[in-house]
Amino acid sequence: MSNTKHKKNSEYGKGPHLVLIGFMGSGKTSIGRSLSYKLKRAFYDTDKMIEESEGITVSEIFATKGEKYFREHETQTLREIREDRIPRIYSLGGGTPVSLQNQPLIKTIGTVVYLRLSPEDVWERLKGDTTRPLLQCDDPLAKIKSLMKLRAPAYERCADIIIDNGGKDRDDVVAEILSELEKRGWKIPPESYLAASKNDNTEN
Ligand code: S3P
Repeated sequence: MSNTKHKKNSEYGKGPHLVLIGFMGSGKTSIGRSLSYKLKRAFYDTDKMIEESEGITVSEIFATKGEKYFREHETQTLREIREDRIPRIYSLGGGTPVSLQNQPLIKTIGTVVYLRLSPEDVWERLKGDTTRPLLQCDDPLAKIKSLMKLRAPAYERCADIIIDNGGKDRDDVVAEILSELEKRGWKIPPESYLAASKNDNTEN
């Protein structure tokens, strides 16, 4: 992907946003916050948007209203983002790109970065996590592997840029993304390539 000649977003009829997709635990929040600091754009996480609008957590939505309800809310949130003309960074829930009706929405919202991670690396990061309802099962690693196999083609279909996020420093991953964006005509302040500030030292 990185060797092709790139056009600007507007030439593809894409919206102005930077959109992060990838499996649970792939680093969307942590990388998104760092990119927010560097690109001076506000960062939003669609799970948090849904939680705020419902007044309960994602786990509670799954438990009380069901996954289907949550998925409908995800699609509605994408439609709202599509109307937002102020350039921002959006991180999408790991299951959002799976729905066939969500895929064209995601692609029109902006430039889509897929943060790719192996199932084993995801498991390393999410061991002990209790906030992902889909992984509260007897064999979470097996579940991660089967979901990943199903979802990888959807992530790839939506992505403009694919970044491997295993075994790398967050700053290097962020620099890689900035450089790919620059190739696509984004204006990246030169100081953005310097190491991360202490201000954005957050983990996902
Ligand atoms: C989900 C991922 C979660 C959240 C929900 C379902 C999924 O978001 O939307 O628990 O289906 O993969 P993160 O990817 O931010 O963990």
